[in-house]
Amino acid sequence: MKIVLENICFNYETDSIVKVFESISCTIEQGELIGITGKTGSGKSTFLQLCTGFLAPLSGTVIINDSVLNNAKNWSKFRKCIGLVFQFPEKQLFEETVYADIAFGMKQRSDNGEDLERIVSEALENVGLPPEEFAGRSPFQLSSGERRKVALAGVTVHDPDFLFLDEPTIGLDKRGIDDIEKLLKGINQKGKTVCVVSHNIDFLFRICERIIVIGEGKIQYDGLKKNMFVNGDDRYGGHVEKPEITVLCESISRRYNIPLNEIYTIEDLVQSLTGISLFQRNSVDGSS
Ligand SMILES: Nc1ncnc2c1ncn2[C@@H]1O[C@H](COP(=O)(O)OP(=O)(O)O)[C@@H](O)[C@H]1O
Ligand SMILES: [Mg+2]
Repeated sequence: MKIVLENICFNYETDSIVKVFESISCTIEQGELIGITGKTGSGKSTFLQLCTGFLAPLSGTVIINDSVLNNAKNWSKFRKCIGLVFQFPEKQLFEETVYADIAFGMKQRSDNGEDLERIVSEALENVGLPPEEFAGRSPFQLSSGERRKVALAGVTVHDPDFLFLDEPTIGLDKRGIDDIEKLLKGINQKGKTVCVVSHNIDFLFRICERIIVIGEGKIQYDGLKKNMFVNGDDRYGGHVEKPEITVLCESISRRYNIPLNEIYTIEDLVQSLTGISLFQRNSVDGSS
């Protein structure tokens, strides 16, 4: 199962026309974990809503599993297999309690109340919210980061084949980001497709291999993260920043002539350092 976007053109037509996409095409294969990035206002949220059928293209087609996602009939057919966590979680929280919000739409699927309670508790735990503390609270009296986590729990509880998330790390502390990272990796390891929009390139480079960069109405880059900045390539500089650790390692590399190239995560750095003889000798000698 895959999602294919073919020559999608999209404008917002309110008082004036806001041109967003001229003609974009891409394929999201089953089981991928894709990071989508670009400048503020480049169209990332619009892209996710087009992929998930919340917005209809002006021209072009969105194809899911060989069916065109362009009418209400098809949309209801695919709704169950697609989950979208909006950039603004207020858009999708409406019940009086966190429990009721997450349980919404699950009642038909679980055999009894006890089962439903367990499912909701697990969903809350997975996003790092202790159920005993949060289940009975109003979603509207939570911090924005907590609301984002509740919205995520409310979507993941349906176990969608395609999970789309819009800026899931906003408002979260390091621990919260780590929880989301673990959750998304776990969902992806179960064979589900995960597409994450984020301006937090460090986060995307930690969890994704494929990166899509959106800018000026086009897809500016669609490929492996390891090929994005090869040989100091700064072509995407206008649309995306390099991860902080990459910038730091390039600077150390230039200054001290230590080969620290293509370092995108702390893990990459640790692996690279073990390959450098100075560090190897120190660790063997026990001196530093
Ligand atoms: N509902 C809307 N009506 C009119 N213009 C919109 C609407 N939503 C977004 N836009 C405009 O469309 C462009 C893309 O927005 P968006 O997809 O939200 O970008 P991003 O998520 O990358 O910040 C921006 O110029 C934004 O101002
Ligand atoms: Mg956005």
